[in-house]
Amino acid sequence: MNRPERVPAHARRLASRMAAIEPFHVVALVTRAKALEAQGRDIVNLVIGEPDFPTPRPIVEAGIEALRASRIGYTPSLGTPVLREALSGWYRARYGIEVPASRICVTSGSSGALLLTMGVLLSPGDEVLTADPSYPANRHFVRAMEGRAVGIPVGADSAYQLTAELVDRHWTPRTAAVMVASPSNPTGTLLSLDEITRIHEVVRRRGGVLIVDEIYHGITYGDRARSALEFTDDVFVINSFSKYFCMTGWRLGWMVAPPDYVDDIEKLAQNLYISNSDIAQQAALAAFSPAVTAELEANRARFRAQRDYLLPALCGLGFEVPVTPEGAFYIYASARRFTRDTYRFCYDLLDQAGVAVAPGIDFGEHRAAEHVRFSYPKPIPVLEEGVRRLREYLGK
Ligand SMILES: Cc1ncc(COP(=O)(O)O)c(C=O)c1O
Repeated sequence: MNRPERVPAHARRLASRMAAIEPFHVVALVTRAKALEAQGRDIVNLVIGEPDFPTPRPIVEAGIEALRASRIGYTPSLGTPVLREALSGWYRARYGIEVPASRICVTSGSSGALLLTMGVLLSPGDEVLTADPSYPANRHFVRAMEGRAVGIPVGADSAYQLTAELVDRHWTPRTAAVMVASPSNPTGTLLSLDEITRIHEVVRRRGGVLIVDEIYHGITYGDRARSALEFTDDVFVINSFSKYFCMTGWRLGWMVAPPDYVDDIEKLAQNLYISNSDIAQQAALAAFSPAVTAELEANRARFRAQRDYLLPALCGLGFEVPVTPEGAFYIYASARRFTRDTYRFCYDLLDQAGVAVAPGIDFGEHRAAEHVRFSYPKPIPVLEEGVRRLREYLGK
């Protein structure tokens, strides 16, 4: 009998773009932390970027009711009309602005929104300016759509955010779009509405498009975050049910697009994935009730208390955090007193001390090897235990 032909390793046909897609280290560390937990180790997980709070009960109940009562089917690709209307009402109630439901595109997490945005905006070789550090997946959304992400080094002087001046200085004939996030992941810092307005002016003058990621809106500790939609329709605004609404696993987000892009976004969504989860969309209709808002606002107060505990504790250990994070649930800290290689530091910290934090390398290149990100939405006793282990590990 003939032996089946063995396929040589070199026959693997891997797309050239894959060379530029790096692992998402946060996810890899979470996997390692889970493997250690499965071996019986107790891990303080300060790596994953999701609230520790459950999805509010009324949302869960609405999901259960959807399963019981309806036929779960495909929905329109841009979302159910009733959810798009509800989101329009949310902008009216929260920001006092009119955002027509026709411009609101419901997506699979804000990740889906980012992919669609890059899909409709980028031609091969087009460049997107982002802050370095910023959310790891952004540069890969750009690359997956054949564009090139250009990270602009930012530091404490601009609260780790792009400025209009930086955008103008780094603009090239290939620049198609600029992406900002406020509050930012990994730094938790905000952009003022004035600075977003100035960045928008530069982007328009240069003939590009501005994308503003507002996924951490609702999780701010000083002034309320202002939406770019408060001053213009001419912007892609990205948002999600994942963070403020504590619905990471439901995979539901949305974007607000300039009116003349909506048909193209719909065309792409129809083909890429037909529709978003019907169950999640039905559940999310319960997200805007006064009871849920009260719960989410109580969560926000807890996030704040968690930050107020962890920030001084980390600084006391010798981490440096030059700009106070005013939103999201992250602290981006320099660990240069301890290491110049935070990638190894993070794996060692996890293996030796059972504390999982994210290495700076996930978020870009600029001084990445000296930074780590702490994700702090955890009960304060857990944070205290993390700090205790860190102190011991660092020999303090
Ligand atoms: C800044 C930012 N944008 C987008 C996302 C994607 O989140 P999701 O797809 O769950 O909405 C994240 C997740 O951590 C994020 O931090």
